[in-house]
Amino acid sequence: MSPKKDISTEDFSKMTSYLAEKYGLHFKPEKVTMLESRFLKRLNALHIENFKQYLDYVFSGKNNEEYKFFIDLVTTHKTSFFREQYQFDYLKSILPDFAKRRINIWSAGCSTGEEVYTLGMLLNEEKSNLNSLDYKIVGTDVSVPALKKAAKGTYTNTELMGVSDSLKRKYFKKTLVGNIEALKFNNAEITSKIKLGVLNLNNKTYNLTDTFDFIFCRNVIIYFSAETQRKVLQKLINKLKPGGLLFLGHSETAIGTNLPLKSIKPTIYQKL
Ligand SMILES: C[S@@+](CC[C@H](N)C(=O)[O-])C[C@H]1O[C@@H](n2cnc3c(N)ncnc32)[C@H](O)[C@@H]1O
Repeated sequence: MSPKKDISTEDFSKMTSYLAEKYGLHFKPEKVTMLESRFLKRLNALHIENFKQYLDYVFSGKNNEEYKFFIDLVTTHKTSFFREQYQFDYLKSILPDFAKRRINIWSAGCSTGEEVYTLGMLLNEEKSNLNSLDYKIVGTDVSVPALKKAAKGTYTNTELMGVSDSLKRKYFKKTLVGNIEALKFNNAEITSKIKLGVLNLNNKTYNLTDTFDFIFCRNVIIYFSAETQRKVLQKLINKLKPGGLLFLGHSETAIGTNLPLKSIKPTIYQKL
């Protein structure tokens, strides 16, 4: 028997209140169809009859592995290498001003790792121009499956659109995913400078010892309410060094928040 895909109004409201409170995620009622289609596959795979039973299953035990899949399904992971190229061009142009000491970068909401490896390749390429360039890249997300993919660093050709052939040849090696040809990130020096971990941006405080020169938090706060967006931006600013830069997604803004930021280019802000 195939599972019933409908999410009742009561379950939708229960689930979205939980996600708003814990992760800051804000779902409009019209998102129910999208969620239903995302959950349908999972219900099928688990032979669970309806969404209510699935919710009970997810919340039945503290260390329930299913919880990780649940969070993965309610989050959107769309990303790509060199997304918003103009931001990386700008970063490259101002690197000399920051390269006197180690550069700390945080990709907050790094999804499956494309942003993190883009930054790694960019900084490594600049090493020949900037003698003593050293850097560290922290990538965090709430989705454990996304972080696992990031740690693997294996991408299909479609996922690698945006990476030039010369960068592919230099930084990736051929591998197979099942019987599909793919490429695996293959630069040990860059990988050693990347640290990945789980972090919920809606937490009261962020358990990170570093402060950062650059924070990329792109296409993440778009899923939060205006109030949560402001709170998250404030906490990101607290982790930014004075003069450091915050990069947001193309449809996100910090304008009108009254936070100590100067807008220097569309979607790029400097901490005052
Ligand atoms: C659309 S992706 C953006 C990926 C990448 N930053 C980019 O712009 O290409 C959004 C990511 O934010 C993560 N996310 C959503 N809510 C979050 C939260 N409360 N804390 C941390 N990450 C979150 C999702 O799991 C997802 O991987």
